[in-house]
Amino acid sequence: MQYGSNASRTALVVVAHHRADSLTAHIGRRTVAQMAAAGYTVDVLDLNDEGFDPRMTVADQPDWNDREKVYSTEVGAHMHRLLAAERVVVVFPVYWASLPALLKGWIDRVWNYGFAYGRSTPRLAGKRILWLGLAGATADDPAIEAMQAMLDNQLNDSIAFYCGFSSSTVGLLPDAEERPQSVTPEGELLVGEAISGAKRDAHYTGFEGVAADFVTAFLTSEPAPVAALP
Ligand SMILES: Cc1cc2nc3c(=O)[nH]c(=O)nc-3n(C[C@H](O)[C@H](O)[C@H](O)COP(=O)(O)O)c2cc1C
Repeated sequence: MQYGSNASRTALVVVAHHRADSLTAHIGRRTVAQMAAAGYTVDVLDLNDEGFDPRMTVADQPDWNDREKVYSTEVGAHMHRLLAAERVVVVFPVYWASLPALLKGWIDRVWNYGFAYGRSTPRLAGKRILWLGLAGATADDPAIEAMQAMLDNQLNDSIAFYCGFSSSTVGLLPDAEERPQSVTPEGELLVGEAISGAKRDAHYTGFEGVAADFVTAFLTSEPAPVAALP
């Protein structure tokens, strides 16, 4: 679905959640509205809603001897949507300090050899991407720092920069659960009381604000200059 009408400022917002009433989908919708208000034509890719199958197929498996391989029609259409976007925002719940399978499969199948990587000038070169990851851990959980480092390494270095993006940022959003959770050194999961009333409202207003700040910073930032080759 397309929002906005500015052909020169194009964005793809990818939402990776299986429930339309999830916090992830809610943040996805707010992100789309924020980007459209900033003048972007936004293509919304709701992977679950569009029935994207994350499983790799023979048709979409790379052939290392043929970087011109034509992939499946479905993947070809996703490649066009990615190509058409100057900026990409991906909104997802953090699963096991990583991506949910739905999103991982989209990258596996669509960000393919000969298209996203494997060329001296990758076709995605120069694009900018923001990864908004919602995490159940509370902001003061020591796991957050490690999670940020892992996601930075995986999403910025191993995926986006590998594929030629000129900027990639991981906006980690802790406190995505209503009931605070922590694990004791003995491995027991402690689940606290659900927040309610004014405290709950303030919690979600703050949460939305942090997400919106990441989007604002993303839209106003200039890409870091690409280092000249020696
Ligand atoms: C399979 C699975 C793995 C998860 N792994 C993590 C994790 O590694 N770190 C974390 O902070 N939260 C983790 N969570 C919690 C989710 O990040 C959290 O439930 C989600 O962001 C809440 O947003 P939602 O309501 O949109 O699903 C996990 C949840 C599931 C279901």
